[in-house]
Amino acid sequence: MKSNQKIPTWDLPTRLFHWTLVALFINAYLTFEFGDVNMTYHMWNGYAILTLCLYRLLWGLFGSNTARFSDFIKGPKAVFTYLMSLKDPMPQKFLGHNPVGGLMVIALLLLLLGQGSMGLFTTDEIIVEGPLVFLASSDMVSLAGTLHRLGFWVILACVALHVSAALFYLIFKKENLIRAMVTGNKDAEIVPEGQELKQQSSFKALILLACSAGTVWLALNIWHF
Ligand code: HEM
Ligand code: HEM
Repeated sequence: MKSNQKIPTWDLPTRLFHWTLVALFINAYLTFEFGDVNMTYHMWNGYAILTLCLYRLLWGLFGSNTARFSDFIKGPKAVFTYLMSLKDPMPQKFLGHNPVGGLMVIALLLLLLGQGSMGLFTTDEIIVEGPLVFLASSDMVSLAGTLHRLGFWVILACVALHVSAALFYLIFKKENLIRAMVTGNKDAEIVPEGQELKQQSSFKALILLACSAGTVWLALNIWHF
């Protein structure tokens, strides 16, 4: 096998999802810090993050094989075996996420879904109110606000770990996973032989994205019908 051979790994929807999520997460901070006083941009940005994360849950069930949860959610034994293989120059190979990376994917998705949902119940107690504050007791609203303010830093810590892991593979294992998330292709030598991406159509991804946006819209508006 030639060393410069590339193997398709990530479909276009998964790559677009990833880099859009990164941009929106950064924007969540920017729109809080520098946005309008009513935090309109921050809230719309939050709805977009919620939509994306819901979409990714659906893509994890119905998407291409490397994007499916069944492909990368593994039990403790697989996680341990993989961690042990990290001391070898060439760790265990995976077409998609390794079992440890898979855990971080799930953690980030759930944390972002939680963060966005708490935002709906958060108020700054001056002028800004999340759209569902009226549904909760003042104790619940206060708890949601605390979780929302803390949650950002927890996610930031996970992101720091996530980026450090990507740099670890790049520097110590010579595996450029970051480029793979951009181009969609991994180097053949870090992929198990015979495995391939079974791509689902991007149109299906668009339909699932529309369903996710509809669900967020419904969650915000159903109370007013
Ligand atoms: C706000 C920041 C970030 C968040 C919330 C985030 C979240 C995620 C998620 C959810 C995935 C799984 C993708 C999927 O299967 O759909 C992922 C994968 C990945 N991310 Fe990020 N990410 C962030 C920043 C970054 C940055 C800055 C880099 C690069 C320096 C990066 C590199 C990667 C790589 C290489 C993968 C694939 C890992 C693998 O091969 O298993 N991420 N990220
Ligand atoms: C996952 C998406 C979100 C992220 C990453 C995020 C992030 C943040 C951050 C960093 C802050 C500043 C916290 C601080 O004072 O230290 C904040 C505040 C706030 N967010 Fe979000 N947010 C998200 C979604 C939402 C949503 C969907 C809403 C409502 C629709 C919302 C409503 C608010 C409000 C009202 C505040 C002001 C809280 C205060 O000043 O005490 N957020 N958010």
